[in-house]
Amino acid sequence: MQTILSIENLSKVYASGFRALSGVNLDIDRGEIFALLGPNGAGKTTLISIICGIVNASEGHVRVAGHDIVADYRAARSLIGLVPQELTTDSFETVWATVSFSRGLFGKPPNPAYVERVLRDLSLWEKRNNKILTLSGGMKRRVLIAKALAHEPQVLFLDEPTAGVDVELRRDMWELVRGLKASGVTIILTTHYIDEAEEMADRIGVINAGEIMLVERKDALMRKLGRKQLTLQLDAPLGAIPPA
Ligand SMILES: Nc1ncnc2c1ncn2[C@@H]1O[C@H](COP(=O)(O)OP(=O)(O)OP(=O)(O)O)[C@@H](O)[C@H]1O
Ligand SMILES: [Mg+2]
Repeated sequence: MQTILSIENLSKVYASGFRALSGVNLDIDRGEIFALLGPNGAGKTTLISIICGIVNASEGHVRVAGHDIVADYRAARSLIGLVPQELTTDSFETVWATVSFSRGLFGKPPNPAYVERVLRDLSLWEKRNNKILTLSGGMKRRVLIAKALAHEPQVLFLDEPTAGVDVELRRDMWELVRGLKASGVTIILTTHYIDEAEEMADRIGVINAGEIMLVERKDALMRKLGRKQLTLQLDAPLGAIPPA
């Protein structure tokens, strides 16, 4: 497996003196879906923010496809897309303008056919000329995904993609992530839910209080957690469960 993202001894102490990350080491393989699982305040957003150049690391190095995120930030960032945890969009722009503009920010030439495909994949095509403030919360989240994909990144970060999303959209989101993986994008998502990690991920990393506690292939981790399920197929319906 080829490593696309390499995190080495990464630490973060915020200006307040709070230590949010301690000595994080992690390699992400090209083409995998990696779920970062952890409770509120574990350091998930901090870790992602450092990789995406929003927060400065206190110690350590990160490389994206060999490009250092500090020394070679332009190359590193052009390979990365981020769907942030908070819904932040320009309310008065249209969906089309926002997504096209985002592509331009990364120095990519206009490609209306590509933007159209992204909007269609995200079921936003009908809304392309709508101002963002006229969209529902779930649609706004999808606009953020479209924005993050606008410059054709190789690595996509989804920071709690299913927070505040209804069951149906959650399923859609999972489908979408699988589709992105199939198109060759490496995906790193954060979640509070073990079932979401189980559903989606090839590997799962557990983070708590700024430290990576374990990183394991999903199947191995699920075996360890000792989950067992027995499905009985009945020939005829049973009125009551027999004592035996
Ligand atoms: N700018 C900041 N200054 C000081 N402390 C911060 C700052 N940003 C985050 N923190 C602290 O760092 C810790 C990790 O925060 P972070 O947002 O990375 O957690 P998280 O794992 O993403 O949590 P959640 O699941 O709630 O999104 C928290 O204790 C938080 O209060
Ligand atoms: Mg967070």
